[in-house]
Amino acid sequence: MDRLTGKVALVSGGARGIGEGIVRRFVAEGARVAIADVLDAEGEALAAELGDAATFLHLDVTDRSQWDAAVAAVEVKWGRLDCLVNNAGVIVFKRIDDLTEAEIRRLLDINLMGVINGTQAAIPALERAGGGSIVNMSSADGISGANSLSVYCASKFAVRGFTKACALELGHRKIRVNSIHPGGIFTPMANPTNIPREYYDKGFWIYPAQRAGDPEDIGAAAAFLASDDGKYCMGTELAVDGGLNAGHYYMTMPGAPTNPFA
Ligand SMILES: NC(=O)c1ccc[n+]([C@@H]2O[C@H](COP(=O)([O-])OP(=O)(O)OC[C@H]3O[C@@H](n4cnc5c(N)ncnc54)[C@H](O)[C@@H]3O)[C@@H](O)[C@H]2O)c1
Repeated sequence: MDRLTGKVALVSGGARGIGEGIVRRFVAEGARVAIADVLDAEGEALAAELGDAATFLHLDVTDRSQWDAAVAAVEVKWGRLDCLVNNAGVIVFKRIDDLTEAEIRRLLDINLMGVINGTQAAIPALERAGGGSIVNMSSADGISGANSLSVYCASKFAVRGFTKACALELGHRKIRVNSIHPGGIFTPMANPTNIPREYYDKGFWIYPAQRAGDPEDIGAAAAFLASDDGKYCMGTELAVDGGLNAGHYYMTMPGAPTNPFA
């Protein structure tokens, strides 16, 4: 595992959950990684555990000036930036009738403006490095709709479209832009009521994998897109969702799953 040796990455929302899984995989692949998050204690602790290959930067992705400072700090520390992972995000589970304007604006500000801010801030540094890779975290909910997630879905569909347009504009400038579409990854976001894993998995029996995924699954996908293994991927939407968006089962017809928990 040395596909990212010599590369320098910045992972927004890297202090926990999927971001932490990406940080750990990138370091295991030889990268030096800036963990950029609003969760200072968690981010500092992760960086300390990973040693010289990691550093923590306080970053609120909604603030463009903080992005500029974070990218500059990475270049000062390690001399280059090869990969940006726009992973930070938030969710609110509510019916459309019940979302407040403040909740709607916060969802769009973090999940969409955060990705746009990060992209704009990173482009000059990626060009100075001779090119690079941007990996945007969309969602299975950026490919199909989901109840209780109308505005979250809107933000993740937007990230998917933004990714494709940027792939067109930046590919010929040696910057590849791709999106990952996780589904049902066992993290604090997806499990806000802290349901134990064995119960949580039961909700997934109607999908091909019949269990939730792990942050490591997304770390592996991000490492692929960040590395030269993904060098022909531009505007690719990579679903890592246990088959959640592959289609749907006709439950009374051959080939449907049975409930292993029943
Ligand atoms: N868990 C899933 O099943 C799942 C599925 C699809 C997509 N996603 C996406 O993956 C990404 C990570 O989700 P997760 O499940 O790890 O969630 P999480 O809540 O465990 O982690 C999100 C991280 O983003 C950080 N963050 C939030 N707002 C921020 C801000 N303004 N500035 C900087 N950092 C901020 C948080 O502090 C946290 O460390 C999100 O974009 C999410 O929408 C998750």
